[in-house]
Amino acid sequence: MSEKMRINRYLSSCGVCSRRKAENLILLGEVSVNGKRVKDLATVIDTENDEVRLRGKVIKIEDTKVYYMLNKPSGVISAASSKYGEKTVVDLIGDKKYRLFPVGRLDKDTTGLIILTNDGDLTNFLTHPSFEMEKSYEALVKGHITSSELDKLKKGVMLDGKKTARAKLRLIKKKGNNSLVEITLTEGRKRQVKRMFERVGHSVLTLKRTMEGGLNLGDLKEGESRLLSKKEIKKLYEKRR
Ligand code: URA
Repeated sequence: MSEKMRINRYLSSCGVCSRRKAENLILLGEVSVNGKRVKDLATVIDTENDEVRLRGKVIKIEDTKVYYMLNKPSGVISAASSKYGEKTVVDLIGDKKYRLFPVGRLDKDTTGLIILTNDGDLTNFLTHPSFEMEKSYEALVKGHITSSELDKLKKGVMLDGKKTARAKLRLIKKKGNNSLVEITLTEGRKRQVKRMFERVGHSVLTLKRTMEGGLNLGDLKEGESRLLSKKEIKKLYEKRR
């Protein structure tokens, strides 16, 4: 069925990238419509009748949307491709049929739950800062963390001149000279968990994401992935305001 939509939305619906990234690609002159380069962000695409190309490659809307959960191992980057030949989360899924990309990011050395999909709309709203999706992590931090340090982190600490939003923290257990802590955030600033713990004097030794948007990693092993159930996909969409 033919549909009309702005060019940035078209590219993100095709699973190429987020709408914001699509705008950059358009402004950089990387996108053509029916053989002509377009730089006007207001360009409207007829999904049935226009031919859109990105760097010369035809980009089509895939009717089938797929959603995976991956337990990312350390040493793998959360990107769709790597300039330097590093292994990516998309390589680990190994589904060549769809143009998948990760929803949000984890640092290279962080393990745990990451969602991958070709559904650009879902990615757009889940990664938008105003959305405040809850994410939980298990952090093994150096030393024994005190309850007053946990309280400081709950109330918020200054990062880049701005206080972090209220967070949930729970000491899971002491592990030798270190502490295993669960932290739940609604923000996603760069290296946020690591920098928050550094603020109260504890460096993060290992970090694993265990929950995102109400979906739990469960017993999925590192490096393994699975398709999300219909119920889980519905759960993510229900969070849309
Ligand atoms: N916070 C971090 O510091 N790193 C991550 O990968 C995710 C959250």
